[in-house]
Amino acid sequence: MNSDWILILGATSDIGIAIANRFAKEGYNVQLAARNVNRIDNERINICTRYNVLTTCHEFDVLNLSSHNQFIKTLPELPQIVVSVIGLLGDHNESQRDIFAASLVMRSNYEGPASILALFANHFEKRGSGTLIGVSSVAGDRGRASNYIYGSAKSGLTTFLSGLRNRLHKKGVHVITVKPGFVYSAMTKTINPPSLLTVSPKTFANRLYKCFVKRRNVIFINAIWLYIMFIIKKIPEFIFKRTSL
Ligand SMILES: NC(=O)c1ccc[n+]([C@@H]2O[C@H](COP(=O)([O-])OP(=O)(O)OC[C@H]3O[C@@H](n4cnc5c(N)ncnc54)[C@H](OP(=O)(O)O)[C@@H]3O)[C@@H](O)[C@H]2O)c1
Repeated sequence: MNSDWILILGATSDIGIAIANRFAKEGYNVQLAARNVNRIDNERINICTRYNVLTTCHEFDVLNLSSHNQFIKTLPELPQIVVSVIGLLGDHNESQRDIFAASLVMRSNYEGPASILALFANHFEKRGSGTLIGVSSVAGDRGRASNYIYGSAKSGLTTFLSGLRNRLHKKGVHVITVKPGFVYSAMTKTINPPSLLTVSPKTFANRLYKCFVKRRNVIFINAIWLYIMFIIKKIPEFIFKRTSL
């Protein structure tokens, strides 16, 4: 039986809950953090009874940077694994018109997640162990007219995680960047993504667990996206700017 803790930041997300269940199945105790803990208490009870592990819920708003240190102090134990699934797609057209809407998307996908992971990174470095997992996006691999505000924030997160991995790999701390492609979730409810390009939260969690065990660095949850993004990145800019992707 594992006595380590995993912390899920953004635990109202179906992906976050699927990850919590997957790791609980392996015996990890689970800390769930979300803006509104009332929305996650049922999941906490389910995980606890299903897998007979310890589970706790914590109030957490990633945009409230000044609360981050206190949030970490209130955790029952410094976790061995922290997963941030926090993100906000937003409405791209609105973000193009309204800089405050754009700023919210940028801060929710980059500034907030990077800031809390940075704090955990320092704690983990001091302890000399731990894994930090950040859910970024293939949208961060190339700016596209249809979602470059969300994409640029994810790009920032991807670069941040890469640097963090580079800094911490000799300190016993592992950093994983996750690039999911489409996942069936609240975020994609209105998009209706093609099934070939889309995975379930459960598949996401299974794949993430396998990659965690293998200590992978950058994960494409659905391998098809590795090839899609390879091609998209290769398109010369003078052609790319004429496309509507
Ligand atoms: N679904 C996809 O196809 C897809 C593709 C690529 C990447 N991703 C990434 O995967 C992650 C999970 O997304 P999802 O599909 O599960 O969508 P989701 O259900 O909308 O999950 C987003 C999560 O972020 C949380 N969050 C947003 N702002 C927050 C804040 N200020 N403080 C704390 N939590 C906050 C949300 O909490 P609330 O419930 O309180 O809003 C929610 O738990 C995101 O990072 C997303 O960008 C998803």
